[in-house]
Amino acid sequence: MGVRFRGWGIALPDRIVTNDELSLTLDTSDEWITERTGIRERRVGGTAVSLGVIAGRNAIEDAGLVVGDIDFIVVATTTPDRLCPASAPMIAHELGLSCPAMDVNAACSGFMYAVRTAQGLLETGNRRILVVGTENLSRWVDWSDRNMAVLLGDGAGAAVLEYDEERNDILSFVLGADGSAADLLTAEHGGYFQMDGKEIFRRAVRVVVDSAEQAMKNAQVSPDDISLVIPHQANIRIIKAATQRLEIPMERTVVTLDRYGNTSSSSIPLAFFDARENGRIKEGECALMTGFGAGMTWASAVVRWSR
Ligand code: UT7
Repeated sequence: MGVRFRGWGIALPDRIVTNDELSLTLDTSDEWITERTGIRERRVGGTAVSLGVIAGRNAIEDAGLVVGDIDFIVVATTTPDRLCPASAPMIAHELGLSCPAMDVNAACSGFMYAVRTAQGLLETGNRRILVVGTENLSRWVDWSDRNMAVLLGDGAGAAVLEYDEERNDILSFVLGADGSAADLLTAEHGGYFQMDGKEIFRRAVRVVVDSAEQAMKNAQVSPDDISLVIPHQANIRIIKAATQRLEIPMERTVVTLDRYGNTSSSSIPLAFFDARENGRIKEGECALMTGFGAGMTWASAVVRWSR
């Protein structure tokens, strides 16, 4: 059996916050943020549930389905609206569904972990699963802390995964976690995100390269076979360093962080959607999805583009 990506959808808040706007209240500049991160602006607003509902509805519509066709919802979020309950049942309810629904938290690797979870659920009897990555990071940012405030943004992306007798779009998957690095990026109860950016940077390049190489090996493809890299969007310098080591040119890499910043669990589906909208990959070609995040967690997968 196989798993097919059948539809995609996104949601972005209308409010755009530019680097110049942040420079009005923080000791920073458009020049510093652009040079060190590649980020020019980010979206701010909404909630994990409200953005997730829009992205989910759009993905179901894009798949040519109706909500009743979905039999499970897996939501990846680092910033649920409430500690309890999970966001997934609320997203399901707003969509008009009462199917099983649960959250997955693997920080910025969350969407990939959720896809992997959905793949397992499809192998055990489910037929169509809505996977949502949704984040309201702005709520957990101390807007007077320039270390974090310049990096993060809000948004959501979703995909409908479908059981398919004949075709399989997921050629390989490599997941990992190293809890010894847990203190490098945290948000305590009632607190804000805090990060050792330099150390995360160093480790991120390593885990992206190692897991991506393993994923390509498992899928029996070479870097030349990868038409597009869809990386987690944290810092353009991380993306460049990793793709250079993987020997895949930047022309074959999707970048959305200039417009959206780092949207954690949402960044890979937002980038996937952007690539599709811009016709950057054709049906049947291979893409490498790769991410890393707090935990530390990481995930790489080789997927075949289906529509
Ligand atoms: O989603 C996964 C989690 N996060 C990440 O992947 C983030 C990974 N890390 C990074 O992206 C980078 O480490 C940062 C963008 C966070 C920082 O870039 P950097 O090149 O590592 O800068 P730095 O921390 O070495 O700071 C360089 C200088 C320092 O000043 P001094 O000591 O040289 O005088 C900082 O105080 O830049 C200063 N600085 C800033 N200046 C203006 C730090 N943040 C800012 C800022 N605006 N926002």
